[in-house]
Amino acid sequence: MNHKKEPCPLFSRDEIAAAVNKLSIEIGREYRGKCPLLIGVLKGSFIFMADLIRSLDFPLEVEFIEVSSYGSSRKSSGRVRMIKGLTAKVTGRHILVVEDIVDTGITISFLIDYIKKKRPASLKLCALADKPARREVPLSVDYLGFTVPDKFIVGYGIDWDEKYRYLPDICYLEDE
Ligand code: PRP
Repeated sequence: MNHKKEPCPLFSRDEIAAAVNKLSIEIGREYRGKCPLLIGVLKGSFIFMADLIRSLDFPLEVEFIEVSSYGSSRKSSGRVRMIKGLTAKVTGRHILVVEDIVDTGITISFLIDYIKKKRPASLKLCALADKPARREVPLSVDYLGFTVPDKFIVGYGIDWDEKYRYLPDICYLEDE
């Protein structure tokens, strides 16, 4: 399927900065003094994670995990492929998973099961964007930036077929 060349803006970089700031205040209330381990889900979360941790003014640790369920398709395959697992110790730690976008929920529910097996002290989810219209696995986001419509979202780390991650705003692709 083809797309318009120009992605349409949905949330500006200023709106994103305000949302990240608000999230950092909420996260600080819960995690200050607990030295949480923030686990970013690659690749999509890399820009959000970088901005979020620089808004958090207390000691924390950072880890990344990489999974893929979309490949080059616009539709989730329904199967999650683990590309890079965890190396940091999770048992007994306060874990905050940092996702770019929750769509069907298949990726994050797979990751929550994977991390739960390692017996963390607590486990919560922070997502930049949530697209509840497409949910297949029921789950809620503990710390959420934006609810987005049922459109293909790109920018600020989020791709379509590895493209558009560099866009500073959150945008959507309109079908032609
Ligand atoms: C995207 C996104 C989430 C997942 C959400 O990842 O980053 O991890 O899909 O979709 P779901 O809720 O339907 O599972 P993708 O597989 O495209 O990999 P990427 O992070 O490398 O872009």
